[in-house]
Amino acid sequence: MGKVVVMDHPLIRHKIGFIRRKETGTKEFRETISEIAMLICYEATRDLRLEDVEIETPICKTTVKQLAGKKLAVIPILRAGLGMVDGMLSMIPTAKVGHIGLYRDPDTSKPVEYYCKIPADCAEREVFVVDPMLATGGSAVEAISMLKMRGCKHIHFLCIIAAPKGIEVLKEAHPDVDIFIGSVDEKLNDHNYIVPGLGDAGDRIFGTK
Ligand code: PRP
Ligand code: URA
Repeated sequence: MGKVVVMDHPLIRHKIGFIRRKETGTKEFRETISEIAMLICYEATRDLRLEDVEIETPICKTTVKQLAGKKLAVIPILRAGLGMVDGMLSMIPTAKVGHIGLYRDPDTSKPVEYYCKIPADCAEREVFVVDPMLATGGSAVEAISMLKMRGCKHIHFLCIIAAPKGIEVLKEAHPDVDIFIGSVDEKLNDHNYIVPGLGDAGDRIFGTK
């Protein structure tokens, strides 16, 4: 059974408060999304296994820990997930990166697939799917289904703001997936935007509105 972890770290809470502000500009928004991704990544990688390895310091031989076993992959859901990739890679620089292209149909709010390219050996990797927003849950559920169809087994989902509905929908569809959330907001509005939220994450990262 996957776990649901909501971040309570003061740095994350402060930074999320900053990106919610409507006056926060594209540059600051983008930089802060990346910093928050880095901090969530720190928590989401807590259970990675370690192994002992013998090394030599300038003083003597000793045993240290290094990451063992599985290799990692970061998979952003386009577009807004791209904003979290740099922060993730600054923590796990050797991870491979895949891309899943989905957009929400403005009338139905259902995800529409337009792209999928993931590392060939993704089935053997620990996969971190990233998207700042988990609203109805449709995009996350579809992205993870696409990954499972391609053999991925060890999947974690990282987002910055989630609506309660999105969390329930994702847990129900993919109960094996760990979910890491920066903040759980109150609700969705009539257009399935998160309230209070931060608006359209893709538009705010890329300055398209
Ligand atoms: C946003 C967001 C998620 C999705 C969340 O993307 O980045 O992918 O909506 O909503 P859901 O949980 O209801 O599916 P959007 O469809 O606006 O595409 P964009 O990132 O290209 O702007
Ligand atoms: N996608 C966004 O970018 N923002 C929301 O509030 C909901 C979906």
